[in-house]
Amino acid sequence: MYNLLKGKKGIIFGALNEQSIAWQTAKACFNEGAELVLTNAPIALRMGEINKLSAECNNAPVIPADVVNMEDLKKLFEESMKHFGGGIDFILHSIGMSLNVRKGKSYTEIDYNFNQKTLDISAMSLHRVLRTAWDMDALNESASVIALTYIAAQRVFPDYNEMADAKALLENVARSFGYYYGKRKKVRVNTVSQSPTKTTAGSGVKGFDGFMAYAEKMSPLGNASADDCAKYCTLLFSDYAKMVTMQNLFHDGGFSFTGVTAEVIEQMKE
Ligand SMILES: NC(=O)c1ccc[n+]([C@@H]2O[C@H](COP(=O)([O-])OP(=O)(O)OC[C@H]3O[C@@H](n4cnc5c(N)ncnc54)[C@H](O)[C@@H]3O)[C@@H](O)[C@H]2O)c1
Repeated sequence: MYNLLKGKKGIIFGALNEQSIAWQTAKACFNEGAELVLTNAPIALRMGEINKLSAECNNAPVIPADVVNMEDLKKLFEESMKHFGGGIDFILHSIGMSLNVRKGKSYTEIDYNFNQKTLDISAMSLHRVLRTAWDMDALNESASVIALTYIAAQRVFPDYNEMADAKALLENVARSFGYYYGKRKKVRVNTVSQSPTKTTAGSGVKGFDGFMAYAEKMSPLGNASADDCAKYCTLLFSDYAKMVTMQNLFHDGGFSFTGVTAEVIEQMKE
């Protein structure tokens, strides 16, 4: 380890279980010297798994917050700042939820009430988090904020359904808020566009295994794991990425810029 985050204090949203990208990122940040607060929706915390992660991160406080509830977010930031004795240096937004996918509704038959909730939880929640921090002046100078996204924001992956629209909105919120927060306090806001990864949210996508195998064959480096993503996030949280902001950064083994690979051509011949 390199002590990349020594002395830095961060909030990690979205560690549900060991497979979660947020879980791996919390561990990687802790290993790089960061102090953490862990948070998730109250219902997700009820399973209690997160206490295991907290124990591995020097008993990091676990503070419940539904990311679409502004009161919860305010309390989260207040308690975090009290715990840290000051401002926050980094935030991981690792949250996704599609009500229409859950209810088995395809893109052409989505329920619009569900859709509003999906967009709020999966995309506007980044605005809510940044807005709360903004109003409370909770972020330190040059703080780094990352939200996780997927390439379905740029290209069509049919079974990704309404989450594709949610990710496009999420990426735009990162750019727009990144502008204001950059001007105000040199805060960086980026999205990391990750390979398909076997997690609870990932596995909710129809045909996920086939999807993962295809991406593996279409990526010169293969699929990036949750652990690889965690390490990349620590780099982006560190001072080594101080001038990177308002970007959508592909962390996908080269998938996004590959037209076709020899393996896929070979398979088409069969
Ligand atoms: N798994 C993949 O293939 C993949 C690929 C690219 C991007 N991503 C993104 O990575 C992020 C993390 O997902 P993951 O794959 O680790 O799955 P995950 O299921 O482990 O994490 C999703 C998290 O969102 C939290 N969440 C849902 N509703 C919430 C709410 N109202 N308030 C607070 N938290 C809430 C869940 O409790 C859970 O911890 C998501 O944004 C996802 O879209 C995942």
